[in-house]
Amino acid sequence: MSDLDAVLARVDADLDASLERLFALLRIPSVSTDPAFADQCVACADHLAADLKSIGFDAARRDTIGHPMVVAHGGPKPGSGAGPHVLFYGHYDVQPPDPLEKWESGPFEPRIVETPAGKRIVARGSSDDKGQLMTFIEAARAYMAVNGELPLPVTILLEGEEESGSKSIAPFFAANQAELTADVALVCDTGMWDADTPAITTRLRGVVHDEMFVTCPSRDLHSGMYGGAAMNPIRLLARIIASLHDDTGRVRIPGFYDGVSDLDAEIKAQWDGLDFDESEFLGDVGLSIPAGEKGRSVLELIWARPTAEINGIIGGYTGVGSKTVIPSMASAKVTFRLVGDQDPAKIVDNFRAYVRAQMPADCKVEFSPDGGGNAALQVALDSPHLAAARRALADEWKREAVLIGSGGSIPIVGDFKAKLGMDTLLIGFALDDDRIHSPNEKYNLKSFHRGIRSWVRIMDELAKG
Ligand code: BES
Ligand code: MN
Ligand code: MN
Repeated sequence: MSDLDAVLARVDADLDASLERLFALLRIPSVSTDPAFADQCVACADHLAADLKSIGFDAARRDTIGHPMVVAHGGPKPGSGAGPHVLFYGHYDVQPPDPLEKWESGPFEPRIVETPAGKRIVARGSSDDKGQLMTFIEAARAYMAVNGELPLPVTILLEGEEESGSKSIAPFFAANQAELTADVALVCDTGMWDADTPAITTRLRGVVHDEMFVTCPSRDLHSGMYGGAAMNPIRLLARIIASLHDDTGRVRIPGFYDGVSDLDAEIKAQWDGLDFDESEFLGDVGLSIPAGEKGRSVLELIWARPTAEINGIIGGYTGVGSKTVIPSMASAKVTFRLVGDQDPAKIVDNFRAYVRAQMPADCKVEFSPDGGGNAALQVALDSPHLAAARRALADEWKREAVLIGSGGSIPIVGDFKAKLGMDTLLIGFALDDDRIHSPNEKYNLKSFHRGIRSWVRIMDELAKG
């Protein structure tokens, strides 16, 4: 048996134990956005650092201004000639599990569910991103167990604030630049093309968030005594929100499309050739009509077009029964997905100017003190690392990896390039129907198992050069 086959056999034989270890991680409710779970984020970081130490990594929890990171070093010394030095990144934080009543079992009580399509691991974080980050850790564990060493130098960086804005990254990178810089970053936080076809993500949308608070009367009013005379902030907010898109789905904020270019013909042809089933994609979530700019394919809308979304509206009386009130204030949370060269700072400025221009002189609007975000990102297609990963994925899945875009965002990837000068390979095993950020999140057992095997092969191919 070759060394590689021996490691793969070890992965297969150890799958039940790998799953147990993933379950232990899934039981920790490491919700990053809610301060009530801060201790759980620390516990999760400690758990991962201890696990990495048990494999043979030099690993530690690293405290930050927010939730801790975990940094680990393993394998041959960088520069010793054994392959490129890779930095593997994943995030251990998860989205809040609410609405709790929509879960068929506890979000932090992982279980295996048998379905006609195979076994599924169900829990918050199973797919995003604990199941995915464990594919790499389990691959490293099997490699170390069989060969006593990894085939190439590996640094692991696990973040605890990806789902809540990644505020610690900038200071953490500045303080640890040399330690974190490798030849290439590997990120396991994206999806496959379908359940049998691997994918490498070559473009990520950026994301900008903001919140607007509209105040009209100085206090809540009787809607009979003042109705008709006093402006209602919900009415004003609703008008502004409704005006964000025109009838063709285009965003109406002046300057919004600066830096957005049309798809080049080659990429468009490639995407059209992917045979993406638009009605299945929308049908799966109970819809049938694309909501974005008319005349563009769904893949183009999610991979290559920007958006303006309202993520939440707050205002007025929402209790049982009716209350005749004109509230003093109403607010909305908004996000924009960015593509191409759209500038996050300009998007925020243009949005705020657009809102202010619609305010009557006697009403006022304020914005969140931390509005902002990150730009979109495109990966170089001609790198030797990408070629090595494609070979490895084809060996494992017996199908060529598809080069895909992603509608989602992973803020740190831009910083890898901008702050550490590293390119990133985005390889993940999630599926569109994993329900990430939603109740009953799942990760297919096949994604987990073959994901581990894929990383074994990718490390091996990268080391061969
Ligand atoms: N893993 C996702 C991003 C993702 C989603 C990649 C779908 C590929 C396909 C990531 O954890 C995420 O949810 N990112 C947030 C970032 C935001 C909170 C700054 C996002 O995209 O909304
Ligand atoms: Mn994620
Ligand atoms: Mn996420």
